[in-house]
Amino acid sequence: MRCNDRPSSPIAIDGPAASGKSTVGEALAKQLGFAFLDTGLMYRAFTLAALRIGLSAEDPDACGKFAEELSLRVIPGTRTRIELGGEDITERLRDSEVEAKVSRYSAIPRVRAAMVSSQRALAQGAQIILAGRDIGTVVLPGAPLKLFLTASEDARAKRRGEQTGAEDDAQARHDISRRDRVDSTRTVSPLKPAPDAILIDTTHLSLAEVIDLALEYARCARS
Ligand code: CDP
Repeated sequence: MRCNDRPSSPIAIDGPAASGKSTVGEALAKQLGFAFLDTGLMYRAFTLAALRIGLSAEDPDACGKFAEELSLRVIPGTRTRIELGGEDITERLRDSEVEAKVSRYSAIPRVRAAMVSSQRALAQGAQIILAGRDIGTVVLPGAPLKLFLTASEDARAKRRGEQTGAEDDAQARHDISRRDRVDSTRTVSPLKPAPDAILIDTTHLSLAEVIDLALEYARCARS
């Protein structure tokens, strides 16, 4: 392993729901001067758009066609923003209806193919960090640095509950375990670490410790 000032790009960050991918990815992007693309927001944006026109996830052909024709404006930055038909929908993407359905739409192969192709185009030649479920395995299998963040379900439910300002973490726990189950068992691009990913269990680490660790890997990746 060799350390230098030029961090390797692109960086892939994968992991289950609420494992800290976006928080760590955003912080890392800021420190490295990279862009950050939260691919989960793209699947959420597709879900919101489909729900708005009453398109069911039980109709994969129609969903696939809709994904291929949908024009989402994805703006990677220190934070990822998404526009749909000129409307900035970023703040809508964690609404409960989206949260409840996103994993169902995300399991549709043609929807995934459309998203993956946009993600690769956005990553092409950029100094960028992508976060998601299949970045290291499918979207960017050649990425020089792949991190896979995990944490116990308890820790993740607690963090997500705090993030959303909920009175307790029961709803967060329910949402997380349902999405993890669907995401890990789908046939296409299931959630799993790439064979060359570095696994970081953040259960007992503070956010600052995870960011420091990720920064060290980014600056000292195999190059
Ligand atoms: O932030 P959190 O980890 O809770 O979820 P997210 O990254 O916003 O992802 C929302 C959902 O989108 C996931 O539960 C997956 O169903 C889907 N997703 C995916 O299938 N592939 C990705 N690369 C990113 C997200």
